[in-house]
Amino acid sequence: MTAETDVVRRRFLAFLAASPLLGAPASAQNTTVPITAASQALNVFELQAVAARNIPAAHYGYLMTGVLDDRTVALNSQAYSRWGLRARRLVDVSKVDLNCGILGETWASPVILSPLGSQRAFHPDGELATARAAGKRSALQVLSTVSSTGIEDVIKARGGPVWYQVYPTNDFEVTKALVRRADTAGAGAIVLTLDLLAGGMRRETMQRLAREDTRECSACHGPAEQRARQFTTRPMFQGLDMSRVIGVNNPALTWDYVSRIRDLTKKPVIVKGIVTGEDAALALRHGAQGIIVSNHGGRSEDSYLPTLDVLGEVSRAVRGKVPIIVDGGIRRGSDVFKALALGADAVGIGRPYIWGLGAFGQEGVEAAMRLIDEELRQTMQQAGVTRLADIRATSLQRLT
Ligand code: GLV
Repeated sequence: MTAETDVVRRRFLAFLAASPLLGAPASAQNTTVPITAASQALNVFELQAVAARNIPAAHYGYLMTGVLDDRTVALNSQAYSRWGLRARRLVDVSKVDLNCGILGETWASPVILSPLGSQRAFHPDGELATARAAGKRSALQVLSTVSSTGIEDVIKARGGPVWYQVYPTNDFEVTKALVRRADTAGAGAIVLTLDLLAGGMRRETMQRLAREDTRECSACHGPAEQRARQFTTRPMFQGLDMSRVIGVNNPALTWDYVSRIRDLTKKPVIVKGIVTGEDAALALRHGAQGIIVSNHGGRSEDSYLPTLDVLGEVSRAVRGKVPIIVDGGIRRGSDVFKALALGADAVGIGRPYIWGLGAFGQEGVEAAMRLIDEELRQTMQQAGVTRLADIRATSLQRLT
């Protein structure tokens, strides 16, 4: 470590020690001796503690940031603490099945790896490590548009299809090319992200931590002056004419865009970023074959509305017609249980698996998935339920 990185590192660790950003419950933050292997992790927060030390400060800021005061990030997680579990006795729970069927495919867990961009910023193996971990655990991975590796290599490393998340740029030809490329590569579904369209809200934590860490990082992105267009250098945009593209989002879009994307592919089109019953109904009307209830991990609007709290209205609007996935704030298997009880068919995790990646590469990602699955299995046993389809709201009690 050079003297300069040492100074940055020490300032960053001091920042973390003083920051509620770490987001972990107090019991999990009392890690004075960091774990040295993924197998030692008691929970995902222990992976986070190692990742926070390993990942460069500016990149850690990108991972952890919400918008403005990060309140929606925190509230996403806190929403899960407002529900208790009604434990049941003397049910045979010796065999618990976590198999999860979505759109005709079966995965070994209802926990999906949500799309999270630029994963080589967190570990040199980036999305390939995530893909190998997903393959090993037969889990579903969703690849980001701004992935640091092209989809073909990710599918090879996964040993099977991944879903591809697409941002609607302002140039439909570019979007079309992205969807066609993903389709040809063997993507299982296209996930159209709708929650950053109006974009641009300040990511203060990211900007503050970038200030802490002024080193150049040409391995991840070009020099500072090119940062605004650094997405254009990502592998999925290679070979495309990006001259008309202003950004990955497009505030001018309206609902007919969902139908236009559907017309591009025979693969299921899933819309991500729905947080109201009205929009869920519109999404169905325009052909969405799945809904992801998401506020982009608290990085889109500053709504203070946790995704768990809007799941009910989305579920009532969807009435079982298409699968519902919810993400944002899930850190424990009991959170997964609560989401499924309140209307989700599956859940997405983002930061927790990236903590695993940043801490221990592929093994860390596997550890994050294993820990959450183990906790889910135990929660199901406590509730007296052995199959995901039998998880019901009657297992929960709202805390006052
Ligand atoms: C990209 O999806 C981001 O939230 O930065």
